[in-house]
Amino acid sequence: MVAGYPFFLLDELQTAVVLLDETLGVVYLNVAAETLLGVSARQVLGQPVAELAAEDVRYIDILRAALENFQPYVQHDMDIRLKHGGTAFVDSIVTPVEADGTSYALVEMVSTHRAQRIAMKQHLMSQYAANQAILGGLAHELKNPLGGIRGAAQLLEREFENPELQEYTQVIIGETDRLTTLLDRMMGHGPAQVLAPLSVHEVTERVRALLAVDSTPGIHIATDYDPSIPDLVADVDQLIQVVLNVARNAVQAMAGKGNLLFRTRIRRNVTLGDQLHRLAAVIQIVDDGPGIPPNMQNQIFSPLVTGRPEGTGLGLSIAQSLVHGHGGSIECSSQAGKTVFSVIVPVQEGPE
Ligand SMILES: Nc1ncnc2c1ncn2[C@@H]1O[C@H](COP(=O)(O)OP(=O)(O)O)[C@@H](O)[C@H]1O
Ligand SMILES: [Mg+2]
Repeated sequence: MVAGYPFFLLDELQTAVVLLDETLGVVYLNVAAETLLGVSARQVLGQPVAELAAEDVRYIDILRAALENFQPYVQHDMDIRLKHGGTAFVDSIVTPVEADGTSYALVEMVSTHRAQRIAMKQHLMSQYAANQAILGGLAHELKNPLGGIRGAAQLLEREFENPELQEYTQVIIGETDRLTTLLDRMMGHGPAQVLAPLSVHEVTERVRALLAVDSTPGIHIATDYDPSIPDLVADVDQLIQVVLNVARNAVQAMAGKGNLLFRTRIRRNVTLGDQLHRLAAVIQIVDDGPGIPPNMQNQIFSPLVTGRPEGTGLGLSIAQSLVHGHGGSIECSSQAGKTVFSVIVPVQEGPE
C-alpha cells in the first residue's frame, strides 16, 4: 500500500505524521515529523518505533491498544523525549488504518507550546491559591463568633433547672463543633507534613482496606499496579487522605453498584507547576459511574463545590492542596461510564 500513494502531499503538512506497521516498525514519516523529532527518514525507516524517540512505555501501550482494539486514541499534553536530548510537547492522535489486510497505526502529532501550557497551569494554580486565601480569611472570621456561641450555650446549660432543655444546648454545641472542624479544614489546618520514603502501593492498599470496611457488596475494587515504580518521598497519611477523598467520591457517585480501579503508572517528563520532572508516579482512581456533569468539571477542585445534597465540597479541594504540597497535581477526565482521577506526584531524583 505504501508505494504509489501521493505521500509528497503529506510533506506539505504542518502536522507531523508517522505511519507504523503492526510490529510498530516505522513505515513512513513526513517532513514535519522529521523536524519535530529531529531524526531523518533515512535513519529510521524500517526501524522500531523506539528509534524515533526515547522509549515511553505509556505511549507504546497506546499504539498497541490502537492496533489491537482498532480504535483511535487521543493523547493530550504528551512530553516526548527526543533521541538527541530535549523534549517535544505534543497532542497526539493515533488512528488505526487497514490496507490490503494489514493494519497500520497512523500517528499525528501537533506541537503544543510549552510556555502556553505552563502559563495555563500556573494561572490555575494562582487562582487556586487566591481562593484558598479568601476562604482562609473568611473561615478565620467565622471561628471567633462560633467560639462565643458555644461558650454561651455552655453557660446557659448550667442555668437550666430542667435537664430536658439540655437537648437544645447540646444541639447548639454539637453543631458549632461541627462547623469549627469544617472551618479548620477549610483553613487547611492539619498536622505538618512528615516526609519519608514510601511506595505508592502502600497508599493504595491502605485506602483499599479502608474502603472495604464501609463499601457495599455491589462495588468491585480492582487493581492494576506497576511494581517497578520507585519509592516516593512523601507524607503517607496525607497521600492516604488524598486517595481516600477521591475514591470515596467515586464510590458515592456509583451509588452502590459499579467498578473501582486503582491503577499505578510511571510518567516521564511531566511539567507540574513550572517544573519539569523527569519522573513522576501516577495513581489513577477510575470508576464506571455516571461521571461528573460537564458544567461542573472545571470547578470540582474549588472549595465548597459539591454535587451532593449532603456534600461539603471540601474533599477534592483538600486533596488538591495536599498534593500541591508534594509538588504534584491531581488531574481529572470524566465522561459517563468512565471517570479517571490521576494523582501525580514527582519522584525525587537521586544522584545518577
Ligand atoms: N468520581 C466521580 N464521579 C462523579 N462525580 C464526582 C466524582 N468525584 C467527584 N465528583 C463530583 O465532585 C463533587 C465535589 O467533590 P468533593 O470536593 O469531594 O466534595 P463532596 O464529596 O463533599 O461533594 C462531588 O460532589 C461530585 O459531584
Ligand atoms: Mg467528597
